[in-house]
Amino acid sequence: MKNPTSHNDVTSCMKTIKLNNGLKIPQLGLGVWQSGNGQEAIDAIHWALAAGYRHIDTASIYKNEEAVGEAIRTADVPREDIWLTTKIWNDDIRAGRTTEALEEALARLGTDYVDLLLLHWPVDGYMAAWMALEQALAAGKVRAIGLSNFMEEHLTDIIEQGEILPAVNQIEFHPYLVQADAISYCDMHNIAITAWSPLMQGNFLKEPLFAEIGAAYGKTPAQVVLRWCLQNDIIIIPKSTNQGRIKENSEIFDFELSEDHMIAIDELEKGEHFGPDPNDFDF
Ligand SMILES: NC(=O)c1ccc[n+]([C@@H]2O[C@H](COP(=O)([O-])OP(=O)(O)OC[C@H]3O[C@@H](n4cnc5c(N)ncnc54)[C@H](OP(=O)(O)O)[C@@H]3O)[C@@H](O)[C@H]2O)c1
Repeated sequence: MKNPTSHNDVTSCMKTIKLNNGLKIPQLGLGVWQSGNGQEAIDAIHWALAAGYRHIDTASIYKNEEAVGEAIRTADVPREDIWLTTKIWNDDIRAGRTTEALEEALARLGTDYVDLLLLHWPVDGYMAAWMALEQALAAGKVRAIGLSNFMEEHLTDIIEQGEILPAVNQIEFHPYLVQADAISYCDMHNIAITAWSPLMQGNFLKEPLFAEIGAAYGKTPAQVVLRWCLQNDIIIIPKSTNQGRIKENSEIFDFELSEDHMIAIDELEKGEHFGPDPNDFDF
């Protein structure tokens, strides 16, 4: 995998990854899918920011951009210190209304820009939607643009027909599903990878190896899985609405998995999706 520049410049424990446009994205973010659009999401974001997170990952389809915006406005951390990602939903891509959908998302978020805007899935109309993202970038409404769930054939279209290289591709990634082809294609083009469902939607608890390895470092199974992602140069956005688990998921910058432990986790790969497969989805 590529070796992006990492810095310790957000907080003492939060590393960033330098994207192909020069911007630095915090390698750890909080995912807020299924976190509600009220106090639960607001509390989770406030707890995350207090623990040192500086990156929040939402999407229009999560239906909680209002709560995300309120949490950011009422936090002790300035807006410009927080990396905010949102995504354009499939219906808007198909309907050719990406520009309008971004305006609506900005209004719900109560902000005049997002740090990263992604096309959520490679549905019909994604090329025109990408052109709209390029225009939004030029207009200063977004600081970086990227994709989600794009596999090689779709990435090739964007790279060949677009003017701007996607900064990020957000895909399902965890020890049971590495999507090596998509990752090596992105590496080749210097497109950073964000892992969605890095904790296998909670299923990591069923795998005994993580607890065994964690015992050697005094770390929990979740911390082992997230650390393995970090050491693969992957950006991670684990979701939790529990204060203790949000903090636990951030305490992953003070230890390093040995090569043997990295390999042992690599060997768990079995191509198992916990979410939809980008090669076979119907929404
Ligand atoms: N681009 C896409 O298509 C796409 C698709 C799916 C997800 N995403 C993004 O990726 C984010 C993360 O993925 P995800 O929400 O599917 O799953 P995930 O982060 O892999 O797992 C979340 C689950 O793990 C539990 N959990 C979190 N930390 C834990 C810990 N330390 N110990 C035990 N359990 C723990 C959470 O429960 P509690 O909340 O109770 O702690 C929740 O049930 C989403 O929130 C979203 O932002 C993007």
